[in-house]
Amino acid sequence: MQNRKVLEVRDLSAGYGDVEVLKAITLEVREREIVAIFGSNGSGKSTFLKTLIGLVKPWGGIIRFEDRHIESLSVQDRVRMGMSLAAEGRRLFLGMSVEENLIMGGWLCREELKENLEKVYSYFPQLREKRRELAGDLSGGQQQMLSIGRALMSSPKFLMIDELSLGLAPAVVDTLAETLLKIREEQEIVMLIVEQEVSLALEISDRAYVFDLGEIVDEGTSEDLMKRDSIRKTYLSI
Ligand SMILES: Nc1ncnc2c1ncn2[C@@H]1O[C@H](COP(=O)(O)OP(=O)(O)OP(=O)(O)O)[C@@H](O)[C@H]1O
Ligand SMILES: [Mg+2]
Repeated sequence: MQNRKVLEVRDLSAGYGDVEVLKAITLEVREREIVAIFGSNGSGKSTFLKTLIGLVKPWGGIIRFEDRHIESLSVQDRVRMGMSLAAEGRRLFLGMSVEENLIMGGWLCREELKENLEKVYSYFPQLREKRRELAGDLSGGQQQMLSIGRALMSSPKFLMIDELSLGLAPAVVDTLAETLLKIREEQEIVMLIVEQEVSLALEISDRAYVFDLGEIVDEGTSEDLMKRDSIRKTYLSI
């Protein structure tokens, strides 16, 4: 039997002004899954995550999270329900300390602040060491840890990460990927990860969707996609 659906998206469309960016996206994420999205630049990956969290209004279609329609809920309500986004470009408060950034991420979940801080520091020990330093003084890898750590501060069930590896050294990416797998195991958090590095995307995920010009052009288990000639030629240069 398949695991329960955590997120179900059907025929979702959205855009900016009168330009349609997402065209009839249909996708689901089930309990215990890590799902990856990859595809060319400008294909709508970030717009899709922003539409899920409520920063971009859908034009049509359905977003169901934990069996509830959430299309018209505010970002705060979606975060309260358990969605969280580590956004593209990290969007940290660079003039604030590491710990202040984490606290900002936990403001909707204040009862669990201490516990969540401790959890984040246990997954990312470098953040504990640097907790009094300014976010702007961290390395790129540490900033990415902070962005993910901040997203974890609201006790999410569903974590979205936009551009996991962008600009990071391979060793840092390996550590991050291992940590995410550990978090999935221990917290039972479901993840939707946008990742331009296709080999990494397929390595860390159970299933993946390929975006092109606002549409899903391919999907499958990551194991199958890795073997598929079209994927290998277009995205893995093999
Ligand atoms: N705030 C905005 N206003 C107007 N157009 C936008 C806005 N944000 C994105 N777009 C346009 O929407 C399309 C999809 O952009 P989006 O950032 O979602 O793609 P992406 O797949 O995340 O790309 P990348 O791989 O470069 O991150 C692009 O044509 C982009 O120029
Ligand atoms: Mg993007």
